Amino acid sequence: MELPELRSIGVLHGDITTCEDAPKNFDISDRRGTLEIYPEYQQGLDGIIPGQTLIVLFWLHKANRDILKVYPRGDRSRGLRGVFATRSPARPNPIAISEFKVLAVDGLCLQVSGIDILDGTPILDIKKKLHEPV
Ligand SMILES: C[S@@+](CC[C@H](N)C(=O)[O-])C[C@H]1O[C@@H](n2cnc3c(N)ncnc32)[C@H](O)[C@@H]1O
Repeated sequence: MELPELRSIGVLHGDITTCEDAPKNFDISDRRGTLEIYPEYQQGLDGIIPGQTLIVLFWLHKANRDILKVYPRGDRSRGLRGVFATRSPARPNPIAISEFKVLAVDGLCLQVSGIDILDGTPILDIKKKLHEPV
């Protein structure tokens, strides 16, 4: 089935420029960065406040889309697994889901921590975390 074209709503700015330097996932990361949202989506930021957790979806633009089996977290002792059984960046549609803590809101820019994503990665969507009292 044909799917509608995705629109990037912004871009991540950070100091992670190589996969070797990137934390394996957000849960073990204290790296900071900025979510820059494009002006046409500004109204969608209304209600986001410092201290809350955001679920952020990315398009991993440098991921390998042809691999279907990987060693989880690069650990060969765990054996090969299907990508759909892992959080690997390699997958046919390289969509990542990360949870970031909001440190500050400054117009179109959200300062966040927990970054496991490369500088320059397109942002697809942002959602609030379920059951967080904010
Ligand atoms: C294991 S993925 C997890 C991403 C997300 N937290 C998730 O669980 O869906 C994180 C890894 O993806 C890789 N990565 C980050 N940004 C990328 C990008 N734009 N293109 C390709 N690989 C990327 C880095 O190696 C990083 O350690």
